Amino acid sequence: MDTSIKDDPVDSTLEYVIVPFQIDSHGVSHDELETLFDSLLAHFSNANIQLVQSNRGYDIHLREISWNKLETAITLTKNGNPLCDRILDSFVATIDGVRSFGLKGDKRVYVGYNKERKVTNRKDKESNRGTYFYAKDAPYMTESRSLSVDLTDKIICGDSETVMQDFPDNCVDLIFTSPPYNFGLEYDSQNDADEWERYFQKLFGILDQCIRVLKYGGRLVINIQPLYSDYIPSHHIISNFLMERKLIWKGEILWEKNNYNCKYTAWGSWKSPSSPYLKYTWEFIEVFCKGTLKKEGKLDDADISVDEFKKWVVGKWSIAPERKMQEFDHPAMFPEELARRALLLFSFKGDLVLDPFVGVGTTCVVAKQNGRSFVGIDTSSKYCETARSRLAEVLL
Ligand SMILES: C[S@@+](CC[C@H](N)C(=O)[O-])C[C@H]1O[C@@H](n2cnc3c(N)ncnc32)[C@H](O)[C@@H]1O
Repeated sequence: MDTSIKDDPVDSTLEYVIVPFQIDSHGVSHDELETLFDSLLAHFSNANIQLVQSNRGYDIHLREISWNKLETAITLTKNGNPLCDRILDSFVATIDGVRSFGLKGDKRVYVGYNKERKVTNRKDKESNRGTYFYAKDAPYMTESRSLSVDLTDKIICGDSETVMQDFPDNCVDLIFTSPPYNFGLEYDSQNDADEWERYFQKLFGILDQCIRVLKYGGRLVINIQPLYSDYIPSHHIISNFLMERKLIWKGEILWEKNNYNCKYTAWGSWKSPSSPYLKYTWEFIEVFCKGTLKKEGKLDDADISVDEFKKWVVGKWSIAPERKMQEFDHPAMFPEELARRALLLFSFKGDLVLDPFVGVGTTCVVAKQNGRSFVGIDTSSKYCETARSRLAEVLL
């Protein structure tokens, strides 16, 4: 990149965005500071960025900035003096902390990017409409309880609706799970082609226990695939049930598996509107919260990196399906990477994670690898055994 060329000045009729910048200049003279920022900002047009002294210290005036160019300019400006280098790093961090911007290539555009927005008075309208009306007056108590030590970090064999009856209310921080989808898979100990009403009745019994054991502010994150060939939108039916129970729908993640080997159409309707068959290469992950959207936790226990956070809050995760199902002799595992993203994004280090359909233990393996406690339940003693031996191999 030719950093000697200044970037294109933006429309200078638009007001700058002003960002306060605290400089810890202890040990750096005013002249040194001036030289440092003169040489950094020489790479940019001052119509796009300026550092201005104000009565509270310094302000960064921003219109737009190329992020690659900023990173290169910072590297070129660093002079080996650790105090100066730290000031430059905090300059980048301060700009990075501004979360409202549009993107134009690699440029972050801070001014004018939302002038096409059609909704005016957005905040007022939001407050008139009200958020999650369906979950108001939820009857949940706020205090947390602890799961007993004998049940913590264990794989328990049994029907999770019954097993969870021994758990106290409000003891789990995050439930990450994938129930059987009733597709007709060959599980070890379970009929996976039940009549639909019976299937949902059983699932809802288990979900009621999940809601009870979840802490206030805890999350229920559930991976679901509808059975398109039966025209059963399981993800909607389950979401509707959870909303009726006054959980707050936080959002939906598409797990893009990129598996294109699905059939094209119902027989006799090729290339005809008579009954085209829609194709899906993804599954759904529904995210719900109990009582409040905000989860209590210490900042030090948030172990997701900046890059992971930026990538994973975009609700479409491209992850290949699990390739070790034969090795573990289970027909419907999800990949560790899926569990890792859910755990790092929705729980803190030290939290308790529950999977009531744990299969061969993927959620618990990832919990253990990432400093969370876990409890996993499955009806199959064979899958539970496999889960326990996988866990025995996880090094702390
Ligand atoms: C989709 S699989 C989960 C696989 C898991 N995510 C993994 O990666 O290994 C669903 C699991 O739920 C278990 N299961 C079905 N009904 C159950 C119940 N009532 N209680 C506990 N587990 C159950 C099945 O044995 C199956 O292993």
